[in-house]
Amino acid sequence: MMHSNKRKLNFLLFLAVCVFISVAATKPAVSTKNNTSLSDTGLFKNLKVLPKDISKEDLEKVMHGFNKALGVRCNFCHSPGANGKMDFSSDAKSEKDIARYMLNMTHEINMKYFNPENSERPDTISVVKCVTCHHGNPHPEDAVLPDDDHGNMPPPPPPPGRDSSSNTPPPPPDHQ
Ligand code: HEC
Ligand code: HEC
Repeated sequence: MMHSNKRKLNFLLFLAVCVFISVAATKPAVSTKNNTSLSDTGLFKNLKVLPKDISKEDLEKVMHGFNKALGVRCNFCHSPGANGKMDFSSDAKSEKDIARYMLNMTHEINMKYFNPENSERPDTISVVKCVTCHHGNPHPEDAVLPDDDHGNMPPPPPPPGRDSSSNTPPPPPDHQ
């Protein structure tokens, strides 16, 4: 269908933006390697969100983009296999599946709220990216409120020797 083709195209556009951002952020845009895009179909065994025929080069750019956006290393989402080497196709770590979910969510946000299909401003397509929320942190809420860890702590007990009949603070716990 026309519509679904367009969605597919927009998703590719979104990925292209991810790739572009990560390239721009890491190294000068000079590629010494050959461009091998559609020829290496089947390189990767377990892609459920990214295009199955993505080139090695593009996949690596997306992955390095994740590292940068979340401020993590590859092993945040990937784990070693039985032989001790990294097994990138394994889904053993839940973070990998969350990342898939996040990829889809980010795409949906762009599709739904930045309306690329009818947009008069193509520059607003794919404006939301991993780094928009994560800012180099795996937990966005920590990035926003770095010192809020004590929000749920009870107030400190009053200093010892205080008259317990005072009605402002609750009595200290009775431990000897
Ligand atoms: C934030 C999580 C995350 C980080 C960090 C990450 N990856 Fe990934 N990686 C994924 C997800 C999710 C997939 C599967 C994508 C899909 O299903 O389309 C994947 C897939 C891959 C694959 C394809 C495996 C296969 O055969 O299916 C390779 C290779 C890979 N990653 C390498 C890396 C490398 C190298 C790094 C570090 C530079 C890295 N990844 C960092 C989430 C991550
Ligand atoms: C709209 C904001 C937003 C965007 C965009 C976003 N994330 Fe997230 N992400 C979050 C929030 C919020 C959490 C924390 C959820 C929680 O604590 O339950 C999170 C959690 C995660 C986690 C789990 C971290 C952990 O340790 O549990 C991973 C992995 C992740 N995001 C990857 C990504 C990737 C990869 C992208 C880009 C494709 C992305 N996120 C885009 C908001 C976002």
